[in-house]
Amino acid sequence: MPESQLGTTIVIFGASGDLTRAKLIPALYRLFQQQKLPSNFKIVGFARRPYSHDDFKNEVLNSARNVLKDAYNDEDWKRFTDMMWYSRGDLATPADYVTLEAFLEQIDAGAGNRLYYLATAPEYYVPVVENLAAINATDETDGWRRIVVEKPFGTNLETATELNTRLHAAFQEQQVYRIDHYLGKETVQNILFFRFANAIFEPVWNRNYIDHVQITVSESVDIENRAGYYEHAGILRDMFQNHMLQLLCLVAMEPPLSFNGESLRMEKSKVLRALRPAIMGNTVRAQYEDYTSAPGVKPDSTTPTFGAVKLFIDNWRWQDVPFYMRSGKTLERKSSEITVQFRRPPHLLFDLPKGKRLKPNILALCIQPDEGIHLRFETKVPNANDVHSVDMEFRYGSSFKNIKLPDAYERLLLDALNGDNALFISDREISLSWKFIDTIVDGWAGDHAPPLVKYKRGSWGPSESDLLMEDDGRVWRMRCGQEPPV
Ligand code: BG6
Repeated sequence: MPESQLGTTIVIFGASGDLTRAKLIPALYRLFQQQKLPSNFKIVGFARRPYSHDDFKNEVLNSARNVLKDAYNDEDWKRFTDMMWYSRGDLATPADYVTLEAFLEQIDAGAGNRLYYLATAPEYYVPVVENLAAINATDETDGWRRIVVEKPFGTNLETATELNTRLHAAFQEQQVYRIDHYLGKETVQNILFFRFANAIFEPVWNRNYIDHVQITVSESVDIENRAGYYEHAGILRDMFQNHMLQLLCLVAMEPPLSFNGESLRMEKSKVLRALRPAIMGNTVRAQYEDYTSAPGVKPDSTTPTFGAVKLFIDNWRWQDVPFYMRSGKTLERKSSEITVQFRRPPHLLFDLPKGKRLKPNILALCIQPDEGIHLRFETKVPNANDVHSVDMEFRYGSSFKNIKLPDAYERLLLDALNGDNALFISDREISLSWKFIDTIVDGWAGDHAPPLVKYKRGSWGPSESDLLMEDDGRVWRMRCGQEPPV
């Protein structure tokens, strides 16, 4: 059968979990409504609970309704779930994969594409991959086979390398889709459009014009009910190794040859390879005040829930330009933004009021929640020899009024189905990012660790984080819609 006529089956391992209910099924449903799923698609959930096909559909219905809100309607849901099945099995039991394979062959009549999605706890990644390989379910003779792997991808360089090795024993690298949901966000992809679909910023996007770059990913939530995971992860593994470093890559990378996986992933790897190993004096390690009283957290836990890091990229473009990154839980508000601060003009020719200085130009890329881009520049105060900072603003909400920003999983699932791995992480990026993060994780556990400081809920983290900037004569900026005009 020609490949274009083959059906496509999405097999979700860990189908009774939160990710499936809160993200995957709603995203697939919305793609179905927009007629973006392959024409002959099928979804099969695989998990241990003794569900019938209908039990599974009912189970996902309740949470999907909550997530989908107005996008939900009975008729579409019925047509969508007509293509949904459940296969009961244990992730670690080889015989259950034989049963699964028999079921898949029955519904796709022996030929079809397969997207395997690992929505399981990470300890099952290897068993699932090996069990699939054992029944030859990775072979592409009867249609393509791809596997989507969620984060966390390992817990350090060693475990991530081991996981890559095990994956590669069963799948080729181009069959592996490692997810970082930040890359599925429209505003994150727009960093590349902003830089490379415009001619005016790229000539100044370097050490000659940029003073420094800040990346803040703040969250107002605490660790909620995730102590079991978070106690081992902490802020570095949870946010820095993946989302933060990916944002850094997009801001700092050289122009790729084209917007395809090979070029993009290669350029991102070059940034990661050029990272100067962090020194502990350039890091801040903190924990919110009542973290240790959360259920499941050890009373003497030293898990950091906030981190700030000053880092450098040793290459021609960025030599000696500091990149400051911070992320934390229970901060004042949820906000992800990148601030690029330019150098001041080299010569002051205006006669300004005593003590007044020109302020640097600032470009803020606002990723969420108030999506947009703002450029701050200096302007003359009318009828006075004075200067005032003003903003040029672009807001998604005003410029694209009738377009709802899609959920990151919609875009990423669609790309995986279409075989486009540009927004997925390569094995090389994984290794290089762990190598950088391991230095900090190890440093924070060693003799020269910065002290673990406490910070208040609802704050912007500990004062040490502000000092990291102040010591360099700089301040953290929150430009995305909130900082008052000056
Ligand atoms: C996840 C982390 O990867 O990203 C969570 O595990 C964090 O701890 C989440 O809350 C943040 O994602 P978003 O899209 O809400 O910014």
